[in-house]
Amino acid sequence: MSNNNSEKPVIAILGGTGKEGSGLALRWAYVGFPVIIGSRQLEKAQTAASELNKVLGKEIVSGMENTKAAENASICVLTVVQEAHQAALQSLKPSLQGKILVDATARVDFRDPKPPSPPSAARIAQNLLGKQVKVVAAFQNIPAHSLRKKLGQTLDCDVLLCSDDTQAAQIIIDLAKLAGMRALYAGGLDNAITVEGLTALLISINKHYGIKNASLFISGLEGQKQ
Ligand SMILES: NC(=O)c1ccc[n+]([C@@H]2O[C@H](COP(=O)([O-])OP(=O)(O)OC[C@H]3O[C@@H](n4cnc5c(N)ncnc54)[C@H](OP(=O)(O)O)[C@@H]3O)[C@@H](O)[C@H]2O)c1
Repeated sequence: MSNNNSEKPVIAILGGTGKEGSGLALRWAYVGFPVIIGSRQLEKAQTAASELNKVLGKEIVSGMENTKAAENASICVLTVVQEAHQAALQSLKPSLQGKILVDATARVDFRDPKPPSPPSAARIAQNLLGKQVKVVAAFQNIPAHSLRKKLGQTLDCDVLLCSDDTQAAQIIIDLAKLAGMRALYAGGLDNAITVEGLTALLISINKHYGIKNASLFISGLEGQKQ
């Protein structure tokens, strides 16, 4: 679905009332994308949307239940808690058909950060949703803290993006760029297990050095088309 007033696609953030989802919502809404915050509860979604609109100083974010949010968007981003990953996908499966689903899930325990075992969360999502949904794994290494803090600026870290569908990958690379993030294609969905695992390293670095936003930057790309 496209917004009538512009060419920009509607983006639904499923589980968008949380830390990562609201940070992503803020960045896309800031640059003019109509964003829908999805939640299990309509009222919670609407409250979160109105808080974001207040920060932005414009009415561009709306709130809906997750299923309605997915139905009303062409690009959906999943940011529910990792424990709810599969159950959320199962219930959203009919609403996601024919769409791009960006999966930001990193299955790492903050208290005891270790890399998860394969398959990647995004591979699980692709298997569960079927071929009519184009799954893209992205943003697992981008701290929620950074998304909010540097609004309007380009982040000094990279998004490692994995998908079996390079066209869908490019759409999300372009979308990330508009929101101030350099995203790099890093292979198919099975590679996303390594991206999830890197989150365990970043959390360990955060804990050891008493910081909140350890992140990754890939060198060697100077002069390359991105
Ligand atoms: N936090 C970060 O810095 C960060 C960075 C990169 C990736 N991630 C990934 O992003 C995802 C969300 O992390 P977060 O830190 O944003 O989590 P969070 O703030 O704790 O929660 C996200 C949302 O999940 C929803 N939720 C909770 N239990 C649920 C259930 N049983 N079924 C469906 N939805 C449920 C809640 O929405 P409602 O109650 O409104 O339904 C909640 O607002 C995780 O997969 C995480 O690995 C996080």
